[in-house]
Amino acid sequence: MTTNIAVLVSGRGSNLHSIIDNIENGYIKDARITVVVSDVSDAYALKRAEDRGITDVFVDPSDFENKIQYEQEVLEVLEDHNTDLVLLAGYMRILGKGIIEAYRNRIINIHPALLPAFKGLHAQEQAFEYGVKVAGCTVHFVDEGMDTGPIIIQKCVPVLDDDTAETLSARVLEQEHKIYPEAVKLFVEGKLKVEGRVVIRR
Ligand code: GRF
Repeated sequence: MTTNIAVLVSGRGSNLHSIIDNIENGYIKDARITVVVSDVSDAYALKRAEDRGITDVFVDPSDFENKIQYEQEVLEVLEDHNTDLVLLAGYMRILGKGIIEAYRNRIINIHPALLPAFKGLHAQEQAFEYGVKVAGCTVHFVDEGMDTGPIIIQKCVPVLDDDTAETLSARVLEQEHKIYPEAVKLFVEGKLKVEGRVVIRR
């Protein structure tokens, strides 16, 4: 059975790009991206989707009275595309209860820090300014909290003496592009089991 993947984005879309590449090159088998949804009209990720022949949809949050109604529309798009798995790839909104409950343990996010440290925005800068010697990234299931869901894969990178927040972010991003496809592959192959907040690989 093919796993239908929907990707929610807001910006650059480099993680989207790496997932598309890894489906096309056969690393992730039996999966396809059926739709890319953005809350930002000029997100570069939308162009990337178009260029690769993937349906892309802009849902304008300002068209709706509140977050619940906006997310209802996003949920309809997901359902219209028979979505099995939702990937957040630089999607800059916290998901509400409706989508989380509809796709419990079927929504995955990538965060550019070693959770539970440095949640929220600008995580690489937070880590850099804190002075950590090891930084990294985390792929995790999404729950109601902010960057709190069960962890699937983490990867660390060193922080070097001559780093800037930018060079560190680039080193972290390189690893994001590896572990996100790896986590998606594990999910698609049915190898992830969530027990409480612990993810077991079968
Ligand atoms: C990545 O650093 C990801 O970890 C974070 O947002 C950024 C998105 O980058 N959640 P991109 O849009 O995938 O290039």
